[in-house]
Amino acid sequence: MRRIGVLTSGGDAPGMNACIRAVVRTALAHDHVVLGIRHGYAGLIAGDAVPLDRTAIRNTIHQGGTILETSRSLEFSTEEGRLRAAAAIERLELDGLVLIGGEGTFHGASLLAAEADTAALVGVPASIDNDVYGTDYCIGFDTAANCAVEAIDRIRDTARSHERLFFIEVMGRTAGFLALESGIAGGAEELVIPEEELSIARISERIREGFTIGKKSAIVVVTEGKTPGISFQIAREVSERLNFESRVVVLGHLQRGGPPTLRDRVLGSLFGVAAVEALLEGRSGCMVGEVGGDLLCTPLEKTWQKKKPLNEHLLWIFQFLSE
Ligand code: F6P
Repeated sequence: MRRIGVLTSGGDAPGMNACIRAVVRTALAHDHVVLGIRHGYAGLIAGDAVPLDRTAIRNTIHQGGTILETSRSLEFSTEEGRLRAAAAIERLELDGLVLIGGEGTFHGASLLAAEADTAALVGVPASIDNDVYGTDYCIGFDTAANCAVEAIDRIRDTARSHERLFFIEVMGRTAGFLALESGIAGGAEELVIPEEELSIARISERIREGFTIGKKSAIVVVTEGKTPGISFQIAREVSERLNFESRVVVLGHLQRGGPPTLRDRVLGSLFGVAAVEALLEGRSGCMVGEVGGDLLCTPLEKTWQKKKPLNEHLLWIFQFLSE
């Protein structure tokens, strides 16, 4: 191996820069050349690459976003686009490529692997949704979850002062990891997660029960699901049933930015080193991850084909801690 490429793709996630930095430092320590591919798969198709040396990654570990920039490339979802990407990999003379991203990135990488057989491909999980199979945590989740908890704390002050019901919508798409963990940490009364069927009656009943034991306000954490903004409809229906005023706060992209937490910087660093080591060991077509405290590699196909389940124990403790 002589030349290693690195790119970030899909939604940016705090900690991606720590990972890029770790990839560069590890590769340079083994005397390899590192190229940063800009704008994710769109940049790969265009062959948009810049050399990454020690100077390029200096003073970046504390920055959110990604210094390489990112994209969700429609062209890459076509065979023609992927063939152009494979040609660029050859032109750039890459022996290995580290792909930092989420499910969509690895779906694309699995397809690319069939066309780009000149370079080894190794993935690194980074997604605030934390929905990638093959790792307990993805880079970015911890920062986003802490952002959501801070928002819940702030809103609780108003909820308590005005005796109100609040619906706080968090990201996560079709996975409830952000809602579950921020809901536990923020002391929410109820959750709406895609893993469970939505029941306005159940949500209303749980809030009513809380009021009967003396609660005067309540917070419901809602996963955006496939329809961001869904919490407005849920709030209206629950409010009508309970005849109780409510407010909605959609956290949106606030959760994606900001300086990475300690956990995301360490995870990004660990995964960056592990990805280069995996390449040096001759691995390809896999994603590095951490399961039960162990670093391991999972075949790329599994990371997006298998649905990562929520932690059953956390779901269970939420039920009675939220009463
Ligand atoms: O996948 C990360 C994520 O932040 C999701 O939680 C959210 O649904 C989506 O990206 C938003 O994507 P975009 O920034 O492209 O609107």
